[in-house]
Amino acid sequence: MNSDQQLRTAPTDRFFIMSDTHVSLAKPYRAKRLERVVSKALELQPDSTVVIVGDFTDYGMPWEYRLVARAARRAGLQRDRLVLALGNHECRLPRFTWSLSRFARHVGSEAPYRDLTVGRTHLILLAGDEKPQRWDGCRISDNQLEWLDRMLSDDEERGSAPLVFNHEPLFDTVEGSLAHHGSGRSIENDADLRAVLDRHPGAYVFTGHSHFPLGTRRIGVGPTFANTGAIAYDDGYGREFAQGWFVSVDEYGVSLRGYDFIEEAWIDGCR
Ligand SMILES: [Fe+2]
Repeated sequence: MNSDQQLRTAPTDRFFIMSDTHVSLAKPYRAKRLERVVSKALELQPDSTVVIVGDFTDYGMPWEYRLVARAARRAGLQRDRLVLALGNHECRLPRFTWSLSRFARHVGSEAPYRDLTVGRTHLILLAGDEKPQRWDGCRISDNQLEWLDRMLSDDEERGSAPLVFNHEPLFDTVEGSLAHHGSGRSIENDADLRAVLDRHPGAYVFTGHSHFPLGTRRIGVGPTFANTGAIAYDDGYGREFAQGWFVSVDEYGVSLRGYDFIEEAWIDGCR
């Protein structure tokens, strides 16, 4: 087999990446929307692994976790194809420690942050594991930052492009976190995380939280940042809003394509 044939037959790993589904008992239409979105995602890309980049629930309650699992199951998604990252809504401050262990137990991990491999793609799921000052803030421990740096260095040595997920965006990277948005600085030790990521330009960093529309940005020679939008909310002007990324990873790299679930259409130029 020559190298051209090898490239053509190399497997492609496919993902559907969304954020902020905010499933809650009091708002059953959100679980319904999650079910419809996953169902459509599987119709468009049947072999998807589905990632929710945090705030998959409103209060991090056990019954909300169950509603998320049920919506995914009803949409036909296998249990091990649903990957969850921690959001600030899953770790409300008064019960911070309980929330973290609840999440870690649910995803079968020792810590709220973890990594896993899907096909040949390395997924690194970060989490605010240190108590933040603000309820909607995020603080990433030094242990986790060191762990992240090691993971990204290993990926670099292997020549693979990892997908990194953190619910809150890094300051001044994507829409919703820009300086003029005012509330963009959600990670309390933002500069520490940014310093680690900037050392690894091959990484793709997916964030949510702001509910701003999808978009990507590469700053200088740093990694690529992708804003992952939201599924649950309208845009503040009474228009419904539900967008997500279809992502393929193969020998050629990582490619993204944005989809709007209200319009049921690909988003022009959203890559
Ligand atoms: Fe959030």
